[in-house]
Amino acid sequence: MVLLAWVISYFIGSISFSYLITKKIAGIDIRSQGSGNMGATNTLRVLGKGPGIAVLVLDATKGLLAMGTTHLLTGGDPLAYAVSGLFAIAGHNWPIFFGFRGGKGIATTLGVALGFSPLAFLIGGIAAVITIMITRYVSLGSLILVTILPIVIFVLDKPIAFLWTSLVLTVFAYIRHHNNIRNLLAGTERKLGDKTNRKL
Ligand code: G3P
Repeated sequence: MVLLAWVISYFIGSISFSYLITKKIAGIDIRSQGSGNMGATNTLRVLGKGPGIAVLVLDATKGLLAMGTTHLLTGGDPLAYAVSGLFAIAGHNWPIFFGFRGGKGIATTLGVALGFSPLAFLIGGIAAVITIMITRYVSLGSLILVTILPIVIFVLDKPIAFLWTSLVLTVFAYIRHHNNIRNLLAGTERKLGDKTNRKL
């Protein structure tokens, strides 16, 4: 049952709302626009606030839905529950429906963080928003979020399964942001509101 729950979680994560929404609204392929990333930030960049927020919420819901499904199927086992969040993020990042090339997993990570602890979600989310407001770098805010999350989970004394899975999701996020990190270090990272279509 646990394996089935994880497979379902991966498939839930593999649904790309940024692709579906940009295709539906504008008839374009998000992968050929902006940063080329299939995520909320790039949807915001390409289509504006409404679609960007819709993708953020829907992608976050994938994390919660996957964990909720696993909770039901496994009778509340914390390890199965936490790992299903990782499978949802992995599905988003490496989706079976799109040749295993997807997004960077941050919105889905927010949903998973909420599933771990509403307080950890709030603290990580607020830290990310403040970072983005100050620097206008969404990627930096995302990296702050995933760096803070395991620390907060540790401090809040959450189940050990939540702690190590939150460390794994941090590794996922750093892997998927390697281009952003390179651009941040080089000073060429896109800022929020920068409409340029150049591929970085
Ligand atoms: O969550 C993705 C964000 O951190 C960066 O997205 O499109 O600017 O590479 P993007």
